[in-house]
Amino acid sequence: MSLIQKDQNYIWHPFTPQTSGYESVIIKSAKGVWLYTQEGEAIIDAISSWWVNLHGHAHQALNKALQEQSERLEHVIFAGFAHEPAICLAEQLLKNFGMYVGKVFFSDNGSTAVEVAIKIALQSFFNQDKPRLKLIAFEGAYHGDTFGSMAVGDRNAFNAPFFDLLFDVSFLPLPSDTNFDAVCSAMQAHLAQENVAAFIYEPLVQGAAGMRMYAPEHLETLMQMVHLAGGLCIADEVMTGFGRTGTLFASQQMRVQPDLVCLSKGLTGGYMPLGATLVQESVYKHFQNKPFLKTFFHGHSFTANPLACAVAKTSLDLLLEASTQANIDRITGQNKCFLEEIKQLKRVREVRTMGTILAIELENEQVTSYFNEERQDLYQYFLQKGVLLRPLGNVVYTMPPYCITENELQRVFDVIKAYISR
Ligand SMILES: Cc1ncc(COP(=O)(O)O)c(C=O)c1O
Repeated sequence: MSLIQKDQNYIWHPFTPQTSGYESVIIKSAKGVWLYTQEGEAIIDAISSWWVNLHGHAHQALNKALQEQSERLEHVIFAGFAHEPAICLAEQLLKNFGMYVGKVFFSDNGSTAVEVAIKIALQSFFNQDKPRLKLIAFEGAYHGDTFGSMAVGDRNAFNAPFFDLLFDVSFLPLPSDTNFDAVCSAMQAHLAQENVAAFIYEPLVQGAAGMRMYAPEHLETLMQMVHLAGGLCIADEVMTGFGRTGTLFASQQMRVQPDLVCLSKGLTGGYMPLGATLVQESVYKHFQNKPFLKTFFHGHSFTANPLACAVAKTSLDLLLEASTQANIDRITGQNKCFLEEIKQLKRVREVRTMGTILAIELENEQVTSYFNEERQDLYQYFLQKGVLLRPLGNVVYTMPPYCITENELQRVFDVIKAYISR
């Protein structure tokens, strides 16, 4: 039996309709931005394999970090025990975020980083004997697929089977110049109830909603309102973290700091599953020196896996290197040029960019949404041209690893332009 047949026989893939005869592309190896199929075809990974890869595939320094760590310590229980990779990584994450007094709580992925943030926020009020249960999020939000992270996400077809089981969350429209006053009034009305524990948001860019972007000044004002009302701000930087928006973290574009920060995806440079929730000391103090029953009783078997932490620390070092920062600036510049080049084309409904993210909303007879039916044509067209793009409906976006060269990125743009100029 071929690998494709075995894949069909034995595997259920994520976000994939179970249509009989569906064939996965089997990848045999990868290097830099290139994925190689078992037939020897080369495909540019222009979306960093679901936004996780920062420095390219099979990176020498990351391979070395992983191998060396595997020879020392592959894993150890993280309650009562600790290890150097987790300790050094936590120190570096806090320092680079600019959270000088705080703590890092490790978990496994983006959804669990969000679950941990929500639970810590809620329990911090419980521990003060002043329970608050209300959460506020943005319409269109995506924070993951576990129940808590689904609950703070937009109510849509993805979570429709579970609507009745999701806890109640108040949703605000994403702010823009035209609706900002109304969004502030809606926020104020929720805060007036005095039961808002936290406001959770994807800072500056809503990823899964179609790379929807909004202004730092708007977010900053909303965060200030929440703080004034005694609520907490949870920045879900699972996608925006590690340079995607041009700064190391999107939160650094606001003057107000969040109380909790969720990290994953780029955290390990795309090598290992790892989640981290950064917690300000002002929140942590509600768990410190408290009675046993006020402990945060949460953990995962692979919390702070040493292999993942070691590779994450090396990935962060690489990210901070001047050459990587120069690549981020160059990609940002190329994005801006391409935006100018295509914005007047007939098929372009809207085009936007922030840092290394570029999104092009295509004009067709349907509304912009993940369910816009052009998605499948786009995906197949790009794949046939040797470029992995996974459009969110009619929104084509690029989010490449930072090692992509000028020519490789230009090649991606040429393929996109060829499609929209047809
Ligand atoms: C902003 C955001 N939060 C959370 C998640 C969930 O992360 P994971 O898929 O690792 O559970 C995602 C995934 O796309 C995301 O974009």
